[in-house]
Parts: sequence; structure tokens; C-alpha cells
Amino acid sequence: MAFSENLVDAIHEKILLSDFIGRKVSLVKKGNDFLGLCPFHNEKTPSFSVSDEKGFFHCFGCSAHGDVISFVMQKESIDFKEALKLLASEAGINLLDYAGYKNKISKESIDAHNLVEFSKDYFVNNLNASSGISVRDYLSQRKVSEKAYKYFELGYAENISNNLIMFLKNNNFSMDAIIASGLARNSIKNHKPYDFFRNRLIFPIHDNNGTVIAFGGRGLEGSEPKYLNSPDTILFKKKKMLFNFHRAKKYVQKHKLPLIVVEGYFDVISLYHIGLYGAVAPLGTALSEDQLILMWRIADEPIICMDGDKAGYRSAIRTLNIAMNILKPGKSLRFVFLPDGEDPDSLVLNSNKEHLINIINNPISMFDFFWKSETENIDMKTPERRAGFKLLMEKKISLIKDLNVRAEYKNSLYTYFNKNIRNSSMFNNKSQNKTNFNVINIELDKLNADRVNKKMYVNFREKYLIESILNNPDLLEKIDEEFSMLVFSNNELGLIRTALIDLYKKNGTLSNADIIRLKEDINYSKIFMSIFKLNDWTKTKFTPDYVKKHDDLNYVEKCWVEAANLQKTWYRKKRN
Ligand code: UTP
Ligand code: MN
Repeated sequence: MAFSENLVDAIHEKILLSDFIGRKVSLVKKGNDFLGLCPFHNEKTPSFSVSDEKGFFHCFGCSAHGDVISFVMQKESIDFKEALKLLASEAGINLLDYAGYKNKISKESIDAHNLVEFSKDYFVNNLNASSGISVRDYLSQRKVSEKAYKYFELGYAENISNNLIMFLKNNNFSMDAIIASGLARNSIKNHKPYDFFRNRLIFPIHDNNGTVIAFGGRGLEGSEPKYLNSPDTILFKKKKMLFNFHRAKKYVQKHKLPLIVVEGYFDVISLYHIGLYGAVAPLGTALSEDQLILMWRIADEPIICMDGDKAGYRSAIRTLNIAMNILKPGKSLRFVFLPDGEDPDSLVLNSNKEHLINIINNPISMFDFFWKSETENIDMKTPERRAGFKLLMEKKISLIKDLNVRAEYKNSLYTYFNKNIRNSSMFNNKSQNKTNFNVINIELDKLNADRVNKKMYVNFREKYLIESILNNPDLLEKIDEEFSMLVFSNNELGLIRTALIDLYKKNGTLSNADIIRLKEDINYSKIFMSIFKLNDWTKTKFTPDYVKKHDDLNYVEKCWVEAANLQKTWYRKKRN
């Protein structure tokens, strides 16, 4: 389904000139147009103007002039055809849809498209056939209307090992093509191919033009893992696409609905149910730079709406950090936060529609979220601490590549600092919100807003995972990646982990002296005292061997990794 009959028109429709040029040239808004330093000649005062309205750039200095296509031709020194190709891929335009390009596209990718399209029809038919009755029941239980599952073209992969393979073979697709599409795999045991999606509710995934290119599958009757996505193929790059983008685009651009980013497929569907048609979701990975740039093509300030749990908060922080670097004038993000334990789907399901709409209508700006996440639970009663905080914030802001945005972030920082810190109750010593320990090191607590007030509950496995490192510091070198990604349900242990990783990253190694110093550090000593008490009765009798100081580091590593895997499985279960 092409947007426009003609490729050149489609490129003009899809690519906002100032956005595209603005990625290579720093532009400042001036009235309806943008102004910057001309990339085609050397100049000190800007005379290069970009007009989205006219679709042209023009330099009053050197008379360079043209549209987005000639900009690319001149800037990259390429010819017209090459420029079209580059811009089409930039805009997510499928060249297949345009006459004249058809013969240029490899037979391989045409076959791949057909194969996925056939498979989609197959899944959709399954869902609507008599064999799909239990899945239709499941959908109605989850309050997915018939209109919704038809709109999203949901399907069903039966619990049979090679049904799709047979179907595709009968339609003359080769086994090689089926395997390449990711829809089948060769069994390691008997080398027989089997369907990748079995006993799953199927969500077709489309490219930005609405051509189906991959699938997501929700396990039914408790099949693990809960969600599976097609692997990357020649058609599908999961870090570059967003679920539902091609439909959301229409509503965001034409009907000015907000572009909302949620975590999962069901959340997108729930928002559809309440009329928010502009929702998209990443595909089982954290949001990437590419995905942010894709969103900015259709909305200036997409709203990030993650689940109301720790993982959701962490992923909002991660998105904030990625977006900071690539902010552009006029392009930002907004954030909303859901009540504890809720996701958009659960709120809609429990008839909390108004509540959800109200939350979405009141997002906080990116800068406010940045400020909030950096100042949560920190104490700035002394001038030294305030100075340290300011320095750290300046360092973070210096990561913003765009000079204009960076300057404005600095201005906002000083305004907020003067208003909220200098004149705050904190400064006047009236602060009452004492917690069980003081987090003074501001590096400590950027991740979780809800950390400090959580009750101290210690899970032994979590404690052992850290204690093993304290007793065998050389272990950290072998498992630092794993360790930094582990999720701890206990906030204080999470803090110790962060501190250990920071020390290791800073010094390139972890020494006993570092650990002793950390234990004496006033920020951590309370945690060590309460969690790793010396006279702990568990120490003598029941502590596993790998937790104690041990000569055989390989043995310690093996046990540690086993425990870490248990921790991951346990945490995932706890979340679900
Ligand atoms: P969630 O676990 O929050 O999904 O994961 P959900 O929509 O709330 O699940 P339901 O309501 O129980 O069905 C959010 C998204 O993360 C990806 C999927 O894209 C999912 O929609 N995910 C999750 C995976 O890729 N694999 C998983 O095992 C779990
Ligand atoms: Mn969820």
C-alpha cells in the first residue's frame, strides 16, 4: 500500500526537510523557516534557510538551492537514483511499491514478502476457523473486541509442529525460503524443520508502509516464553521498527492524536479500544535511537508510557538517556507514569479508562523527568554537595549533541537549581522525609524513584550474589556484565551493586582495599551493617561455599552464574 503513486512525491511527503537537514546542520527556527550555517560553503554567520512549507532550502550566500533530493545529491555526491534509494530507506519507503523500481528489487525479497503475507493470511484464517474458538475465547476474556482483532489482523498458530510449513510448501515456497523467513527452524535433535510459532496468538508486524514483514506471538495456555518475535530477516529489523507505526502515523498526522509509546502489543490494543489510535510499541527490545528518530518524523513530542513497575521505570530512564544525546530543536519526549503494578492494558481492563486518559493527558516534559530522576532522594544541604550535583548535571547535559538544545538545558538547569534547591526547604533544613539511610552520593540513586521507601526485605540469594564478590573481588572481572544487569528486589543491595560496578569501572579492577573503603563509606556502612552483619548465624552453618573466600575462582564463577540465572528466572516470574 503506497502512500503516493510516485516515489519522489512519497519522499517529499514522508521526510520533513528541516528534520532531515537538521540532522546534518544545526538549525534555529526563525518564523516559519529555519536558519543555519550553510553546509555548501564556509561561513560564520548563518545564511542558509530551510522552509518546510516550500520544501526547499536556499543559501543567500552561495545560492545553493533545492529540495531534499538535491540536498542529498550535493551533500553525499551521489546521483539522483542513489539519492532516491537512500531517502526511501531513510523514510522506510518500500521501493517494491513503486513502478520502475520493481525490477531492481531482488527476487529474494519479493519472495520473502509473499511468504510472510501468505503466512499472515494463514494465521488469520486459523483464528477465524473452528479451530480458533479457544483463542477467540481468550481474546474475549481479555476484552479484545472482534473489531480490534480484525483491525490488528490477529491470528493463531496452532499447537502442531509443522502446519505452517506444510501450508507454505503446498503454496510452492521452498524450505530454504521458509527457514530464512524465521517462520521455521531445523530441529537440533532430528534435523527436521518445525514451525517457529506454535500455540500462540499472532500479532502481525508491518513495516512503515503497512507491508507485513514479521510476527510476534503470545504464548497460550502458559507456553514459555510469554512472547516470541520473528528473528531479524532481510525484511525485518526489530530495532528499527515499531509495532503499529504505519497505522498510528495516520492518526497522529491527520487527526493530531498523541503518539504514545507503550511496552507491549496488548497495551497498543487497549489504547485502540479507548480511541487512542496513535500507540506504538517496540518489539521486545529497549527503544533505540533509530526508533526515536522514526517517531520524531511524525510527532514532535511522543509520550513515553511504560508499565508501572521497576522495569518500566528503568526503561523510561534508559529512553531518557538515549534521547538526550540526539535531541533536536523542537523534538523531545514526554513521560507519564502509571500506578504501581499497572500497565495500560490492565487499567483499561479494570475500567479505569478515565484514569488512564487523565494520566496520558498530563505528561511531564523530558527536562522535568530528567530533573526529577536526578534529584530524587538526594540531600543537598551542604554547599559542597550542591556544587557536586551541579557539576554532575552539567556533565550529563554536555552529552546533548545539539548546541541549541544543550544551551537551553543549561538555562533550565540553573533556573531549577536556583528555584528548587537554593530556595528549597532542603536548604532551610526543614526536610522531614528521612529514610532509613541517607543517599548522599547522587550517582547512587538515579534509577528508582520508589527505592528508598520500600521495606527492607532481604532475599538470601541476592545477598549471596554480592557477598561472593565481596569475598572474592577478582570474580567481578569475570562476571561484571551479568552482575550489572541483574535485578535485585532489595533496593539497598541494588545500591551496593551499583557502587561495586562503579568502583570496578573507575579503577579497572576491584581490590580488597576498595571494598574496605566502601564498607566504611557513610553512604553504605548502614547497609553493610544491617545486611551483612558480622555475627550473622547463617555465615557459619549454611552459607554456600562459593560465597566464602575460595581458592578456585573458576568454581566460584560457575556457582555464581548458576545463582544469577536462578535470580533472573525468579525475578521474571515475580514480575509476571
Ligand atoms: P509484558 O510482559 O509487559 O507484556 O511485555 P504484556 O503486554 O503486559 O503481556 P500480557 O498482558 O501478559 O499478555 C511487554 C512486551 O515485551 C515484549 C513483548 O513485545 C511484550 O508485548 N516481551 C515480553 C518479549 O519480547 N518477550 C517476553 O518474554 C516478554
Ligand atoms: Mn505489560
